Amino acid sequence: MEQTLSIIKPDAVAKGFIGKIIDRFESNGLRIAGMKKLHLSTKQAEDFYAVHKDRPFYADLVKFMSSGPVVVMVLEGENAVLKNRELMGATNPKEADKGTIRADFAQSIEANAVHGSDSLENAKNEVAFFFDGHEIL
Ligand code: CMP
Repeated sequence: MEQTLSIIKPDAVAKGFIGKIIDRFESNGLRIAGMKKLHLSTKQAEDFYAVHKDRPFYADLVKFMSSGPVVVMVLEGENAVLKNRELMGATNPKEADKGTIRADFAQSIEANAVHGSDSLENAKNEVAFFFDGHEIL
């Protein structure tokens, strides 16, 4: 059993895709072990994406991720990190396989509907960024 962090980003929340995206996880063996709707502050978005701070897209990414509400979730299941990444599809929705979340619900590399942890180690850090132990059930 693994846990991974998923974020439904401001674009997908604004378009009313929360339920449809959660259905992809639950229908594919990923259980929602924790969930909250938040409006990230600039500081929270900066800290969460600190690993990208030297990339040219960092400022725009922080602005976008704090532009409206998001839904953060702890997904739990067998091979949850990899399974979530398969369900999401490629970072750039134009390159995402048919039937993936990003192919179906995203518009651009920035407004790409969802974030998912890219390794088990990052998943642990990202889950701890948003959730206290007692919030994961
Ligand atoms: P995410 O999985 O949330 O991790 C970092 C995010 O940066 C990524 O999804 C994209 O939404 C965003 N991003 C914006 N521009 C780029 C880019 N040129 N390359 C990679 N990621 C980008």
